[in-house]
Amino acid sequence: MHNEIEKVLFSENELQEKIKEIGQDLTKEYNECFPLVIGVLKGALPFMSDVTKRIDIHLEIDFMDVSSYGNSTVSSGEVKIIKDLDTTVEGRDVIILEDIIDSGVTLNYLISLIKHRGAKSLKIVTLLDKPAGRQVDLVPDTVGFTVPDEFVVGYGLDYAEKYRNLPYIGILKPEVYKES
Ligand code: PRP
Ligand code: MN
Ligand code: MG
Repeated sequence: MHNEIEKVLFSENELQEKIKEIGQDLTKEYNECFPLVIGVLKGALPFMSDVTKRIDIHLEIDFMDVSSYGNSTVSSGEVKIIKDLDTTVEGRDVIILEDIIDSGVTLNYLISLIKHRGAKSLKIVTLLDKPAGRQVDLVPDTVGFTVPDEFVVGYGLDYAEKYRNLPYIGILKPEVYKES
């Protein structure tokens, strides 16, 4: 698996250091409320797991499973809800956690949905941002790292459902996705 990675972009240590900072900032910002933290499955799972452990206040966790890519490296532009929230967001301080914003189509859809459902506040926190991929106007509130226009995998990010379990983030060798 590791020999299919061309280059490590962010090591396990670099990721964890950044996540600690993000968690500390969120702790300060939300210390007087009980935020609802929404993880966007499946990619946000490792980030969600690690960052919530660094948020040192009471919070509620929920998940949405939304998919826009399928088994392709190119965004289809369509967003499909596979699992909706269990919780109501009305009047809540909501934090959405994402692994990556690329075209912005997924989050654009989720932002409208959460606002429409009457959230009191909404913050977008993404571990990675790929501004070069943007198809809709969307600027996240918090970005861990900005990434180049390459196919990045690991730490939740997949190619054809693989590589999510890498503890680091790397660039996939082009021959891996050109073969299929
Ligand atoms: C990926 C990623 C983001 C989204 C970003 O999810 O995890 O959720 O695409 O792309 P966008 O900004 O172009 O919408 P995907 O739909 O592949 O589902 P997954 O998280 O289950 O891999
Ligand atoms: Mn995703
Ligand atoms: Mg995916």
